[in-house]
Amino acid sequence: MLNPKGGCGKTTLTTNLASYFALRGPMPTIMDCDPQGGSMRWLEKRHPNRPPIHGIAAYKKTMSATRSWQQRIPMESNRLLVDTPAALSNPDIHELIYDATNVLIPVMPSPIDIRYAARFIADLLLVSQLDRRECHVGIVASRTRQNTRSLRQLMRFVNSLRIPVLTILRDSQNYVHAAGQGIGIYEMPHHKVKRDIEDLARVVSWLNRWEVQQPQSEATAETGTFVRPPHRPMQF
Ligand SMILES: Nc1ncnc2c1ncn2[C@@H]1O[C@H](COP(=O)(O)OP(=O)(O)OP(=O)(O)O)[C@@H](O)[C@H]1O
Ligand SMILES: [Mg+2]
Repeated sequence: MLNPKGGCGKTTLTTNLASYFALRGPMPTIMDCDPQGGSMRWLEKRHPNRPPIHGIAAYKKTMSATRSWQQRIPMESNRLLVDTPAALSNPDIHELIYDATNVLIPVMPSPIDIRYAARFIADLLLVSQLDRRECHVGIVASRTRQNTRSLRQLMRFVNSLRIPVLTILRDSQNYVHAAGQGIGIYEMPHHKVKRDIEDLARVVSWLNRWEVQQPQSEATAETGTFVRPPHRPMQF
């Protein structure tokens, strides 16, 4: 997940996708690069009987030292989801997206968030010179209310970019309740979360387009989601 604007839904997306991949197996890994440690706190709340998710508190090292954390990814883990902090510098963004297969950018539909996202996406494509043939970027509209002016504004903005809007996640207490229990919406009673799961499933199927069967010894990474393909060395 990547968007230096705070509170746009990076951790929520990371934990819910991790929960989905944990249920499906094999065990995914979350790398939390945010010193606030939101994903790691979520993981600490997770009951040991739940499908396991490996956690790496990468924020305990400097950004350049996070590369060494790849050694800590369990062999059986073929998904790496990277939760990134707010207020990242351009070099840090460059470092984080290096070698990622997918970058998910959650954007909230407020005028301030949209202006911020426009600048950030321009930087991502120009300053970081992201190669979109290698690294697939998708936007997730987060915490939306139907038919509001700010949602229409967000949709106009993203339609003007050639970046797909993968889904529109509604503002829902289900995410808040799941976060408090160390679970994802996929692990809540289905009748309560049916609509939210339908929305999030669009992100999952987009990510699964790049799913490659691979030998157990080669881990791929998926982040904050970045996903890394098996033929490229995974580096942070
Ligand atoms: N779709 C949603 N509906 C309702 N609440 C949501 C939704 N998505 C996120 N939230 C809530 O919004 C708050 C901010 O979300 P989150 O922590 O995922 O953002 P973030 O981008 O990781 O923030 P930061 O940049 O501070 O790390 C959290 O309290 C979370 O539970
Ligand atoms: Mg966060």
